[in-house]
Amino acid sequence: MYGLIIENMTEYIKATYGEDKWEEIRRAAGVDQPSFSTHQVYPEGLIPRLSKKAVQILKVSEKEFFDQMGVFFIGFVSQYGYDRVLSVLGRHMRDFLNGLDNLHEYLKFSYPRMRAPSFICENETKHGLTLHYRSKRRGFVYYTMGQIREVARHFYHKEMKIELVREELLFDMVHVTFQLTFDNRAFTLASLTMTREEKHLPISASVLFEIFPFCIVFGSDMVVRSIGNSLMVIMPDLLGKKITNWFDLVRPLTAFKFSSILNRTNNIFELATVEPILNDKPIDRQELVLSDELDAFNDEKNLRLKGEFASMLKPEFIGFHQWGRINEHVRPILGTEMIMFDAITELDFNLIPQLESEMK
Ligand code: HEM
Repeated sequence: MYGLIIENMTEYIKATYGEDKWEEIRRAAGVDQPSFSTHQVYPEGLIPRLSKKAVQILKVSEKEFFDQMGVFFIGFVSQYGYDRVLSVLGRHMRDFLNGLDNLHEYLKFSYPRMRAPSFICENETKHGLTLHYRSKRRGFVYYTMGQIREVARHFYHKEMKIELVREELLFDMVHVTFQLTFDNRAFTLASLTMTREEKHLPISASVLFEIFPFCIVFGSDMVVRSIGNSLMVIMPDLLGKKITNWFDLVRPLTAFKFSSILNRTNNIFELATVEPILNDKPIDRQELVLSDELDAFNDEKNLRLKGEFASMLKPEFIGFHQWGRINEHVRPILGTEMIMFDAITELDFNLIPQLESEMK
């Protein structure tokens, strides 16, 4: 795990209980290092080891410890300028929550080895929503609750009640369900605007295919009905086949089913081909639309696509339109589809300079 989270823990202990307590915990846990670098990756066992000793020495519950560590995080990351990132995640708390999954996706530019948590919103009403948190890590449930409550308080001046509804373990993944109760009147406004805009913005399929050369249209049976021009060059056999036989869903951490995609138009999805696509049959490279894709194409033999899903006019069809090949430069990925979603557009504009300077 990246040092950012471990450093947050050490700073939280120092600020709340004093340097001496931190030294005591560190020694008891058998950790030699006094501090950690934010962008360095440390063993996964470090936080569990330190936190186990911390709750014993500080005489607090695990719940209290992690919750407060999550609250502390929001102030802690401001020293690295991340408060700016968090504050542009959307005008309302609902925008922030709907963009939470995408936040860690963007952060992968700065933390490429990140095993990012995944967040999905559901059952939204004007009184709150259900938030699903999925992770390959255990032990961060109360940390997450503290973080979200503090974001609501700090950036949106809202009191939020978070109830832990369920915690399940599915193979190597934790699936946590939270019920968030807060003043979410913005939801009603947003749904009204959306309906009006949708009515006035019809767009023909041929235009879509031209704009999104890697787009995939499939029905509720998951069978692919149409594909964009570039994908047609690379994977012509995909047409008429089940998308699930050809692609794995890498992110968000959810089942690759029509019903689980339908209401998740706010998420950035990442697909990867099940099989390497460079096989015996050489691809006619002249036909690839974007020339700088060739290098990226050679780097990874499995094609990885990133983009969004949108339901088409025919309600039983879903379209996946890509933002760009995953290993393209940042600007084309962020720039190609800015018109699609407000919250993402706002985030993109503000993140571009920061992402670029971090990448230098
Ligand atoms: C701009 C602010 C943020 C930054 C820079 C950031 C960065 C990170 C990093 C580097 C990790 C470690 C991942 C790894 O090493 O594999 C992480 C983990 C995590 N982040 Fe964030 N994060 C931010 C905001 C948030 C917010 C607002 C939440 C709210 C829920 C959140 C929830 C989590 C959780 C729950 C984990 C760790 C547990 C897991 O893997 O499930 N983060 N974050």
